Amino acid sequence: MISDPAESVRTRATGSVLGVGIAVLDLVNELEVYPAEDDEIRALAMRRVRGGNVTNSLAVLSQLGHRCRWVGTLGDDAAADLILDDLAGRGIEVRDAVRVPGGTTPTSSILLSRAGGSRTIVHFRDLPELSAEDFGRVSLDGLAWVHFEGRNPRETARMICRVRDEAPDVPISVELEKHRPGIEALLHGPQVLLASRGFAGACGFEDPDDFLADLLVHSDARLCVVALGAQGAAFLARGGRVQRVPAYVPTRVVDTLGAGDVFNAGVIHGLLHGLPAGETVMQAVKLAGLKCGHPGVVMAHASPRLSD
Ligand code: FRU
Repeated sequence: MISDPAESVRTRATGSVLGVGIAVLDLVNELEVYPAEDDEIRALAMRRVRGGNVTNSLAVLSQLGHRCRWVGTLGDDAAADLILDDLAGRGIEVRDAVRVPGGTTPTSSILLSRAGGSRTIVHFRDLPELSAEDFGRVSLDGLAWVHFEGRNPRETARMICRVRDEAPDVPISVELEKHRPGIEALLHGPQVLLASRGFAGACGFEDPDDFLADLLVHSDARLCVVALGAQGAAFLARGGRVQRVPAYVPTRVVDTLGAGDVFNAGVIHGLLHGLPAGETVMQAVKLAGLKCGHPGVVMAHASPRLSD
């Protein structure tokens, strides 16, 4: 029996990582502490940056040296230009992006509390999601990995089927962040499932061990992982048993925005390098922890050091 997905997830580390999901304009206000309802307060700092789970993960993967491509939808506005410039500036290929004529790019208004580093996100979207038909036009040549956000399940299930049929050697991961109607359709096909604690809770599980056992039974994934925030992460490889990895705590938590996206990038990075599941998850937890000690999703100036 194969107990370690690194043995069964065949990877081609030289190919590109294709990320499928959303790109967002993030308006991040840094505050000393959260306001009360009906308060009027001053922000300490404000930034307009590109966000979105899959593009955040790609930004990290690209910083870690992977060639990356993004496909998703964008509006027909200045926010879309900012997003495309940011991605292209990081060397992420954006030629497959679909611009919706007259569409508005999704926007998140984010409050970041310096007191605890936690964040509150108000997300606005009024833009069609990527369709399987759009995805049908995307070349699958030269891929080492495809990572999907677990959204728009009917269409995304068709995209997963296409990758399975046309590029059967390319590993697929799916992020399960929010429980959406029909999400079960995404459990068959991916080798790696990356769930959030919120997703586990929405499935009715408090205990990560029970959740992972259930997820493995209801999927054909080789590896199921659940990110547990300040509690680290837990994972279950097919044929193995649930293992826990404690959190990596930075000296000071300053910004938790996108920590889950960074964690997902860390898992993909480890598996692409052929690391065993335990080491992969440990590095991903460390990467996410390091990120929480820095403002922003990627760490400025240097590649994060995972080896010490
Ligand atoms: C962080 C993030 C933000 C974005 C929001 C979308 O994980 O990707 O960058 O605004 O979540 O849900």
